[in-house]
Amino acid sequence: MCGIVGYIGPRDATPIVLNGLKRLEYRGYDSAGLAVLQNGSIAVRRDAGKLDRLIDLVGQSPISGAPGIGHTRWATHGAPSARNAHPHLGSTGRVVVVHNGIVENFLELRDELTAEGVNFNSETDTETIVHLVEHYLATGLNLTEAARKTFLDIQGAHGIVLMSADEPDKIVCARLGNAGGVVVGLGEGENYIASDIPAILEHTRQVIFLESHQMAVVTREGARVESLEGKPVQAEVHSVSWDPVAAEKGEFRHFMQKEIHEQVRSLTDTLAGRVDFENGRIRLPELNLSPELAQRITKIFITACGTAAYAGMVGKYLIEKIARLPVELEIGSEFRYRDPIIDENTVVLAISQSGETADTLAAMEEGRRKGAVLWSIVNAIGSQAMRIADGYISMQTGPEIGVASTKAFTAPLVDLYMLAVLLAELRGVIDEQTRRNLVADLRFVPDLASRALNTEPIVEKVAWALKDVRDCLYLGRGINMPIAYEGALKLKEISYIHAEGYPAGEMKHGPIALIDRDMPVVCLAPRDPWYEKMISQIQQAKARGGTVVAVATEGDELVGGMADHIIPVPEAPWMLSPVVTVIPLQMLAYHIAAIRGLDVDQPRNLAKSVTVE
Ligand code: F6R
Repeated sequence: MCGIVGYIGPRDATPIVLNGLKRLEYRGYDSAGLAVLQNGSIAVRRDAGKLDRLIDLVGQSPISGAPGIGHTRWATHGAPSARNAHPHLGSTGRVVVVHNGIVENFLELRDELTAEGVNFNSETDTETIVHLVEHYLATGLNLTEAARKTFLDIQGAHGIVLMSADEPDKIVCARLGNAGGVVVGLGEGENYIASDIPAILEHTRQVIFLESHQMAVVTREGARVESLEGKPVQAEVHSVSWDPVAAEKGEFRHFMQKEIHEQVRSLTDTLAGRVDFENGRIRLPELNLSPELAQRITKIFITACGTAAYAGMVGKYLIEKIARLPVELEIGSEFRYRDPIIDENTVVLAISQSGETADTLAAMEEGRRKGAVLWSIVNAIGSQAMRIADGYISMQTGPEIGVASTKAFTAPLVDLYMLAVLLAELRGVIDEQTRRNLVADLRFVPDLASRALNTEPIVEKVAWALKDVRDCLYLGRGINMPIAYEGALKLKEISYIHAEGYPAGEMKHGPIALIDRDMPVVCLAPRDPWYEKMISQIQQAKARGGTVVAVATEGDELVGGMADHIIPVPEAPWMLSPVVTVIPLQMLAYHIAAIRGLDVDQPRNLAKSVTVE
């Protein structure tokens, strides 16, 4: 996951920034860089590869001074190379930026800037930010105002830090949406900025967390926090514990809540270096998928357990719809006892956060024994499911500590979508325009997730209303049916409330008998191809006196008029809508369990990784 560190003060920023980046090293990255103000100019060192390469580079060709900013990157736009690594300098060489997020309107902005005569030196979306700042500086604005205008121009969710050689007394930073935190650390006559507290914990315990849509002007003396519209904000200063585990939780009470909020960032990293927005193409090099293999595959078995299996169910929809290839979903614990029909043209695709789940590994082994091609979508780097596969997609979510899986659910949804598009292209079953449209839709994913996270205050109110229920039914159809299963699983595993996920169309064949006013029904009703059908399910539940909680598209007055509680989610391309609809359900389960005072991160009887059959 991308990491950011900044320093302003009397000391040399170079070791402070490099040490800070080192503290974030376990997240992994593909390039790293550093910029400091040295004798009135900005000096930059950056390189592809691990942080040690940057440290060697700075050793061979030292730079020193302050302020300074640094970054570790997961590529989003453009391959991981020195040229695409952050920090990015503007054309004047006087302004420099580091950034987490995807500038959704970067193609439009780049065209406008290019028309003005700006030359782009990298393939990144980030470079538009620094050129825009320079564009506004050229109109006579100061750095703060030029940055503010830039922040208002760019779309998407971001964490941004920038500085200018012409205003060396400040660093300007902003948080737009939920693309990961921007933390300002307060010292004595010196201050810090970071994406994550561990990066600056050795220097200070006093921190300010920027909220979405806030920016800060950080000087040696302090930090002025403002809304993007320029209204001063009285930001709360938090005192964080030295305990690295507590510090890692940052502004959140539990890891699960933190991980839910990390999804904007993990989804940004999921697209990292794999989506070529300009040419409308997907790259999944570690999958080792040749055109020849793509064409000879006759069937894919997706195998996984629990939450990962529900992600696989969504994958079945996506691969069958986009790549027109038959997919069967089989949970890991059943697969090998069923004597599945497999040959060398079958792919067995395992999905696993830990990569060590015994049932999933056994299913992979069964696939291997029968001569299948083995693929995996895995979070834990170097795990067994990654090692034994012929090809893999790594989830890029960073460590998931909460037992209830959240960010390792949404990342594979996007991985499966990308896989479907790649398969479709290599199998020649998709025209270029459709492929370009499908790829273009991906750029909205982080921001859609960010907007879904903004429903938290509404979700919390619903959680208070449901906290004492004994049972709960979750209904969904089509691509959102697995989200009903996942929502129910989240609730039961951390709140110990009995919950059932059901295909909404099946309700009339039995479960409808359960509905009365003591049985809340959570209905997934976004505007997708199954919308009309879900409306009639909501009506049926209401007619039986059920309390309906609807997850519906923002502004949907029809559902709003029927449901007892409505959680409005942003409109999303329907094949990506599960990313948006599941987030409120994760938060609902979280808040109900937290209100009930339960051990959210380590629920009873459960282990993070189930390594026994
Ligand atoms: C539920 C949950 C489990 C896991 C399942 C598979 O929140 O976490 O259902 O999804 O045990 O684990 P992995 O993905 O590690 O194979």
